[in-house]
Amino acid sequence: MTDRQKITLMDIQRKKTEKQPIPMLTAYDYPSARLLDEAGVDIILVGDSLAMTVMGYANTLSVTMDEMVHHCRMVARGSKRAFLIGDMPFMSYQSSIRDAIVNAGRLIKEGGMEAVKLEGGLKMSGTITALVDSGICVMGHIGLTPQAVTQLSGYHVQGRTAETARQLIDDAMALQESGCFAIVLEAIPAAVAKIITEKLSVPTIGIGAGRYCDGQVLVFHDLLGFYQQPLAKHVKQYANLNKTISEAVIRYCREVEQKKFPADQHSFKIDSNEIKKISR
Ligand code: KIV
Repeated sequence: MTDRQKITLMDIQRKKTEKQPIPMLTAYDYPSARLLDEAGVDIILVGDSLAMTVMGYANTLSVTMDEMVHHCRMVARGSKRAFLIGDMPFMSYQSSIRDAIVNAGRLIKEGGMEAVKLEGGLKMSGTITALVDSGICVMGHIGLTPQAVTQLSGYHVQGRTAETARQLIDDAMALQESGCFAIVLEAIPAAVAKIITEKLSVPTIGIGAGRYCDGQVLVFHDLLGFYQQPLAKHVKQYANLNKTISEAVIRYCREVEQKKFPADQHSFKIDSNEIKKISR
């Protein structure tokens, strides 16, 4: 496959079979989608994490369907190659199977996404089967499910006892049975993610789930150091955009105040005869 070819579900499944790791990242707008796409990210997720990283909420619960559709459309316009997944926001799929189908359909039809992601294990199987039967591709998400932050009493690693690890394995198997084409494993011990990855025939995508997953996902703003909150243990920061941007803005303010910007090369010229005419 060349770099320019569009990534399909078949490519994602083939990567699992051929043990080629799958890079996935979040993006929430046109410029970031373009950058990720051109850099060769296989899957772009318009994650509901945008509620925190770009909308400034304390958690992901407040973001609405309309807001998700708005961000999906920007990302769809910026991406040619990556496989595009839109996150189903809180209460867009839990209320009824009908709501789930209608809202997932919006992310595909209005948002330009190719698949949707939703959180939850076994309890979501009926909804996932109905979505898949309606022709919608679904990515699952288990372990630390941020939409359950209140029920989980915060953002904690999941599956650290034999009982909870066994539950995660059962959840993963149920999601695969229901027709998920891949499953995000968030904040679970690497050894548990390894067992799940080996048991499943569909790919696992880890975030804080160790090295044995078939792919990895990070939040764009975490990877780039473009988020003001403390970093979680699982995040590797590859750049420090907070620092780069604030230094640039401080320099700009200083140069405006000192009249160093704009310089001649940033200004437009007019013929001297023309200027004479108006200054008469
Ligand atoms: O919303 C999001 O960004 C996510 C990823 C962290 C998997 O769900």
